[in-house]
This record gives sequence, structure tokens and C-alpha cells, in this order.
Amino acid sequence: MEIRLFKPSVGEEELANLRSVFERAWLGLGPMVDQFEKEWCEYMGVASSLGVNSGTAALHLSLAAYGFRPGRRVLVPAITFVSTATAVLYNHLQPVFVDVDPSTLSISFDDLERKISKDCVAVVPVHMGGHPVAMEGLMDFAKTHHLAVIEDCAHCAGGIYKGKRLGTWGDIGCFSFEEKKCMTTGDGGMLSSDDKDLLEPLRAYRWVGIDKDTWKRSPGYTSPEVLDARHWYYEVAVPGYKYNMNDVMAAIGLAQLKKLDGMNERRRIIIRRYLDGIQECRHIRPLLPYELKDAAYWLFGVRCNRRDDLIIYLKQKGIATGVHFLPLPFHPLFRDHDEPIPVAKEVWQTILTLPLFADMTDEEVDYVIDAIRQFDRQQ
Ligand SMILES: Cc1ncc(COP(=O)(O)O)c(C=O)c1O
Repeated sequence: MEIRLFKPSVGEEELANLRSVFERAWLGLGPMVDQFEKEWCEYMGVASSLGVNSGTAALHLSLAAYGFRPGRRVLVPAITFVSTATAVLYNHLQPVFVDVDPSTLSISFDDLERKISKDCVAVVPVHMGGHPVAMEGLMDFAKTHHLAVIEDCAHCAGGIYKGKRLGTWGDIGCFSFEEKKCMTTGDGGMLSSDDKDLLEPLRAYRWVGIDKDTWKRSPGYTSPEVLDARHWYYEVAVPGYKYNMNDVMAAIGLAQLKKLDGMNERRRIIIRRYLDGIQECRHIRPLLPYELKDAAYWLFGVRCNRRDDLIIYLKQKGIATGVHFLPLPFHPLFRDHDEPIPVAKEVWQTILTLPLFADMTDEEVDYVIDAIRQFDRQQ
């Protein structure tokens, strides 16, 4: 048996939406993006959402919204995907790597207290693997230190913490719809906020600085009612980026959004099966303190002191694995930002991601569990 690590769950619903986009023959930024933003706002219960072409773009723009002075510092967890920190660099700000909590692998509150300084302007909590950061504590910390809070929700679309959707606790929530994530648009991302004044100016930034959508102006190009030779006119007042979502992505996203809760539920059921299956293991333990009520877990993993041997063992059985993530200061890009992060530096050597996707069958899950138990018995 060969089992992938992640696999998008796509089918007839996405194809039907794509057909309508093809029939309209408007593939770029258009009505489907509008519709997706509207439905995402409703799903999240927020005032404003902005579709972009990646989670990375969402993070970049969310920090750009504040126009922070260059050189100011932004607190990010040491274990996360590189984009959480490159978004900081894109804005000419400095990432400060905060150690992780040994249990949840997300930003450590103790280390936040050590790393905070008067130059810090924002904090970017990452709901690692979908496990919620204790947002009430983080918001208190941010308030005390006057920090903007950008939630990196790349791993937790659809997740709820203490009755409130992840991505609505902070000032802006940034989501990734890259192909492996809780829901996908192929590549894509979304910013969400209740603060329209913060988010709406970013519309021009995601569309090369243009403050009008071409598809909304396009009827005027041929309409005899619009006897205005300047129908094509637009002005650029800000140095924007080509970060827009397009209608092909949004068509897939609209179908995925309808399935999101179901896919998250299936992932929770699989995780429950994994947890039951490995509970007797002596050398292998769950990666996170999984709370399977409301959270949306994107990642299931384990910890094992002989992590690399386990990777090889599972590979020989056709089971794909991954490591999420190498602590960022280990990358050459961030060598100059080497802060003390003792927990991250130790724990990352034991962590291992196992296959998890909504279409994974019970038979596939049991096959992985059996392989893990066999490895555990041999130790
Ligand atoms: C924590 C985190 N933040 C941001 C991103 C960036 O998302 P995207 O790949 O859509 O740019 C990812 C992608 O894996 C991620 O894991």
C-alpha cells in the first residue's frame, strides 16, 4: 500500500463550479472572487475578507496594512512555515523568533515575556497543525504591549476556540488554501477582519495598486448607455502587488467551503482512530494535545526519539511522512536572527507528521497504525 501525506478532496462540486467559470469565460479576478469573499465573511462572521493568491500574500499584506516603520520587530514562533517570517522581512521589519511551548509547539507565552521589547509592533501566533493558541492570554499580552495581532490560520480553516472562530480573535486572520490545507483553491489565501478600515485599503494592494476591479468596469467598455470614453480609466496611488485571487481559484473555494466542516469532522475522526491505535505504544506519543471538539486539525503527527529510523521504517512500508517544521533560525536566511530557542531546537528532532486527509480510508489509517505499533514493539 502507498499512502500520501496529504491529498486534496476535490470532485464533482468543484468541477460544476469550474464549468460555470468556463462558460462565463472570465477566469481572472471577477464575480466568483466577490462571491467567495462574501460567503467567507458569512462563514467566519466577519465584516471584511480579501481573497489573495496565497497564504504568504495574506501575511505580507496583513502586516503592510499597518505601515510600520522599517526595522520594527515582529514576534513569530520559531517553529512554523517560512512564510510567517518572510512576510515580516517583505515589510522591512525584523522577525524575533520566540521559542515554542513544549506541548502545543506554538508560541511560548513564557518566552514572549522574555523577548518583548519596546521595538515590537506585532505578534503572529500560528495555530500549529490546527491546535488553537490560547488566544485570550495572547490578546491580553498584545493589549498590554500595544501589539497588532495577525493570526496565521494556515492550518486551521474552520477551527473554533472557546466558541469563537480562529482568525477572528486577533486583528486580522490569514488563511492558506494551498493544495494540502484544510480546504484548497489549488493555491490561494484569504485575509479576514472585523475592521473594514484596516482591510479594505488592501484591496488595491492585492491588485497591482488599482482601486477598481476590471470586471466591474467591463460592461462599460461596450455599453451604449455609458457614453464615456474614460471607461478604461483607473489610477494607481499605492505600489500594489499581483496578489489577487482569480475566479478559477474562487470557484474551487466556493465548493470547498461547503465541504469544509465535513472534511474537518472526518479529519477529527481519523485522529481519534490514530490516538486510540497508538495509545499502547511506549516509544511513540502524539505530537499535540489534540482536543477534538471544535478545532480543525490539518496535521496529525507523533513524537519519537528515533524519529529518523521511524521515517525510514514507514517509507519502506509505502507510508509518506514529513517534518513540520525545521526551526526557522536553522535556515541560512535567518542565521542573523538566532535567538535562544532551546525547546524548539530540541523538540524538532523528535517530531514527525503522518498521513492525514479527509478521503483517507479507515483501512489506510489502520495500515499506518499497524506499522507504528510494529516499530514501537521492536524498540
Ligand atoms: C503556518 C503557515 N503559514 C503560512 C503558509 C503559507 O501559505 P501558502 O502556501 O498558501 O502561501 C503556510 C503554508 O504551508 C503555513 O504552513
